[in-house]
Amino acid sequence: MTQNSTEHVLVTGGAGYIGSHTVVELIAAGHKITLVDSLERSEYRIIEGIESITNSKVEFHKIDCLDFSSLDDLFSKNKFTSVIHFAAYKSVNESVVNPIAYYKNNVGSLLVLLEVMKKHQVIDLIFSSSCTVYGQPDQVQVNELAPFKKPESPYGSTKQMCEKILEDAATENFRIVSLRYFNPIGAHPSTLIGELPIGIPNNLVPYVTQTAAGVREKLTVFGTDYNTPDGSCIRDFIHVSDVATAHVKAIGYLKCKTEKRIFEAFNLGTGVGVSVLELVKKFIEVTGVSLKYTLGPRRSGDVEKVFADPGKINTHFGWYTQYDLSQSLLHAWQWEKKLRGV
Ligand code: UFG
Repeated sequence: MTQNSTEHVLVTGGAGYIGSHTVVELIAAGHKITLVDSLERSEYRIIEGIESITNSKVEFHKIDCLDFSSLDDLFSKNKFTSVIHFAAYKSVNESVVNPIAYYKNNVGSLLVLLEVMKKHQVIDLIFSSSCTVYGQPDQVQVNELAPFKKPESPYGSTKQMCEKILEDAATENFRIVSLRYFNPIGAHPSTLIGELPIGIPNNLVPYVTQTAAGVREKLTVFGTDYNTPDGSCIRDFIHVSDVATAHVKAIGYLKCKTEKRIFEAFNLGTGVGVSVLELVKKFIEVTGVSLKYTLGPRRSGDVEKVFADPGKINTHFGWYTQYDLSQSLLHAWQWEKKLRGV
C-alpha cells in the first residue's frame, strides 16, 4: 500500500465495529495509522481482517484509553497528526444496569486522551458521537441545531457529556469534529470484518441476522402502534463502510481549516427513514431466507421516528453514501454466515 499522505492517525478502539471499518478506509486513502484497542470487547481476528483487506501490516497496541502512562508513552514515540476516538462502551441496556462503568469508561477515557493530546500538542480530534444526544427530538428529520433533550439512558448521557467537554476543550486550542451516528449496520463487503455482538444483541440488525441463522428463535418487533405508516418505529440505517468514509473526510476537513479552535458536530446518516417492518421485509427479500418474527409491545425508551438531515455533512465534507439498504442487509447477512461458518 503506497503512502501518499503525511497524516499519521491514531485510532482508539480501532478493533471495534466502526473503528475497524474506518481503519480500512484510512489505509485505502493512504494514511499511516496506529491502532490502539483494549480488546476487551473485540478480538485480534478483526485486526487480521483489516490486514487482509488492506494487504498491509497494522501497527497495533493493546492499550486501554484510561491508561494515561501507556498513551503518554505512545505519543512520545510517534508524531500523530490527528486522533479518531472510538474507544467507548455502546450498549444502551448495559448502561442502564451499570451506569458507573459507562461514565468511567466513556467520559474518563476521553479526559485522559485530551490530557495526553494537550501534553503532546496533537490538536485534531474526531469524536464518535451518536444521534442519541438529541433524546426525543421535536423534528423527525433532525439537524445539528436541534437541542440536546433529556438523554434516554446513561449511555446517551455520556455522549452528551463528552460533546460538552469537547466544546469547552476546543477553547484550549483543539480542533474537533464530532460525528453523530444514526444506525450503523452491515459489514465490510469482503466479510473479513464486521460486528462482534456480545451476548444477546440489543440492536435490530444483529438480532435479525442471528434469528435468520437459527441462533435466536424469533425476532420481536417492538411496537406496532406508533404513529408511522406501518405502526413500527422509523430509523436511519446506514452502512458501516459509509460511516467509515465520513471519518476520512473529517480528517481532510480539519486539515483544510486554518482556525486554531474548532468544535463542529455533524449528523452521520443517510437522510432516509426506514421502518422496522420495512427493514425486516427487505431482509427477507434480499437474502431469500425465512425469518420468524412476531409483533410485540413497545420497548421502553424508544424514539418513535428519527432520521438525519445530512445536509451539513454532505455540503461541508462532500460526503455521500455509497451503499443502499439492500446492500447493507446483504453484507450483514454474509458476515453472520461467516461468523457461524455457514
Ligand atoms: N427493535 C426491534 N426488535 C429488536 C431490536 C430492535 O423491534 O429485537 C427495534 C427497536 O425497538 C427500534 C429499532 O428496532 O425501534 C432500532 O433499534 P436498535 O436497538 O437497533 O437501535 P436504536 O435506534 O434503539 O439505537 C441506536 C443505537 C444506539 C443509539 C440510539 C440513538 O444502537 O447506540 O440509536 O437513538 F444510542
